[in-house]
Amino acid sequence: MSNMIKTDVLIIGAGLAGLSTALSLPKSLNITVLSKAALEVCSSHYAQGGIAASLDKADSVTDHVADTLIAGAGLCATDNTAHILGAGQQAVQWLCEQGVPFTQSNLTKENDNAPDFAVLKTSDLHLTKEGGHGCRRVAHADDATGRHVMDALITKAQTATNITILPYHEALELLTPPMISSSSFSMDASEIKHCRGALVFDHINERQLTIHSAAVVLASGGLGQLFKRASAPNVCVGDGVMMAWQAGCHLANLEFIQFHPTGLALDDSSFLISEALRGEGGRLYCPKTGTRFMLDIDERAELAPRDIVARAIANQISSNGLGYVHLDVSHLPAAFIQAHFPQIYRTLLALGIDMTTDPIPVAPTAHYSCGGVVTDANGLTDIAGLYAAGEVAYTGLHGANRLASNSLLECVVVGRNIAANLPRYLTKLDRLKNLEALEKTAEALEKMPQPHTTAYYELHQLAAGIWQYPTLENTQFVILPSSKQSSYPTYKVDKALHSDVDIAEITIALKALLTANMGITRSAKQLEQALRQIEQWQESIEHNKTMLSDMSSKAPTTYSKLAIFQLVRQLALATMIVQSAYQRFESRGGHYREDYPDLAEIPLTSIILPLRKTTFN
Ligand code: SIN
Repeated sequence: MSNMIKTDVLIIGAGLAGLSTALSLPKSLNITVLSKAALEVCSSHYAQGGIAASLDKADSVTDHVADTLIAGAGLCATDNTAHILGAGQQAVQWLCEQGVPFTQSNLTKENDNAPDFAVLKTSDLHLTKEGGHGCRRVAHADDATGRHVMDALITKAQTATNITILPYHEALELLTPPMISSSSFSMDASEIKHCRGALVFDHINERQLTIHSAAVVLASGGLGQLFKRASAPNVCVGDGVMMAWQAGCHLANLEFIQFHPTGLALDDSSFLISEALRGEGGRLYCPKTGTRFMLDIDERAELAPRDIVARAIANQISSNGLGYVHLDVSHLPAAFIQAHFPQIYRTLLALGIDMTTDPIPVAPTAHYSCGGVVTDANGLTDIAGLYAAGEVAYTGLHGANRLASNSLLECVVVGRNIAANLPRYLTKLDRLKNLEALEKTAEALEKMPQPHTTAYYELHQLAAGIWQYPTLENTQFVILPSSKQSSYPTYKVDKALHSDVDIAEITIALKALLTANMGITRSAKQLEQALRQIEQWQESIEHNKTMLSDMSSKAPTTYSKLAIFQLVRQLALATMIVQSAYQRFESRGGHYREDYPDLAEIPLTSIILPLRKTTFN
């Protein structure tokens, strides 16, 4: 079995962003899609609410943009926001054409004599409401939109002859050789990188693979599983963000972790109770006092933006010494609940809760990373040939707090934009390869592009110059702590594990640490404590790694090596998230600092400069 695969386009991630890209690329391209686990293990699959787009006659893109900017609390990149939301109607129509069984409006249902196989039109769809939206704007397929969308796209992708899906294949590192190998091309050509594939671990055959491709699309999802309570599946630990950063991409706004207000608060359940329940009239009560507390907090009550509702619930929980608050829909007709929320109704009933009569215990849960790998609205990153879409990326659409159901839309729009632009990159790459071949002859050297020629500029444009930071003028740079010298006060931390590193134990402890110290509210003290603790773990692992390599007779197995690699990467990412929060001296959207409760006058985007470091070999 060969350890090398060649493909035209490698897509890392088989969620909505990955498959929208794969299905929209020309059929002439050979496409390989990686899924870290089974195909359905991705956040898109679990999305309940739906996909936001201005589809109603009374709605407009302008209104959708306005609501998004309000929720984003001054940090949305306005051009990208307008671009992405402006493509909403076409994106939903494309999903209809892929066979997604969106819920239709009652009017259509009653009068519809169309045959079952007819493609739905966006005007046929029932729209629900969610927090922060000024009107009904969310197209949905019952209360399991993600599952229905993904089922339709997976079926299409599995039958496409140009798409190969590889489940249980985990990308470890991006391959980014210099664009031109010879320094004779131009002064700084060796600095220009392009992405040509990835190093991958095949969990089925327990082997490492190299996948060579002409371009790579990162669609690997978010990082929710760095936290203890999270709605994302357990594969979502920010691999994509770290691979892109290590390859040379900028990251932005990692401190803006969105906590969904209403995760089911039963044990460590990751099941979400959709915001659409509040959209259709659900109310929040304190179980101890019986107060409908949102009425005193915001005039939009339960439908205020997520950060406000999540913080209000967290305050109720801590000030009353509770584990949850109650979400109640029992005042709505039982038939309506069962028809609109069949999945939630059945799931809760199996757990002994009849939501038509009983209140639902809910508490905030880590849900979405508003920051990520900096891209433009076409998914272009800092590296030529590397694109990113979905939760891994930062287009600036979500600002400081994502508006509900904007993320599925972003996956489809940016994924399809990538598919529209990537073939042009491949054509340019072919031209470049011809130049590279020419370079090999002395005679051709004289014909090489010189500075100030069109070819020279094209090369540079290819590599870096075709996009701009969404908010270049208003950025602040996050200074990452040096691993050698701790600058944090010595707070009490867990005992260092010098003789033995228990990878599983630290992984679980990291989740608890981030949930406790980097949660809905943060303070300098909590963040410093977290940074110091992470440093201690990093030192312990470093110490243990040296010991392991010294013991040649007890060489680590591939799996323990992989587990250490994964943990080292998670700790590095956790440092970047916490440090970003530490250096934001204000409260804005999803970032609330107890010691800096006010909004700073000028909204600044946090940028982390890239690193190029290989950590797995
Ligand atoms: C929900 O159904 O509440 C989740 C929707 C979202 O996160 O956009």
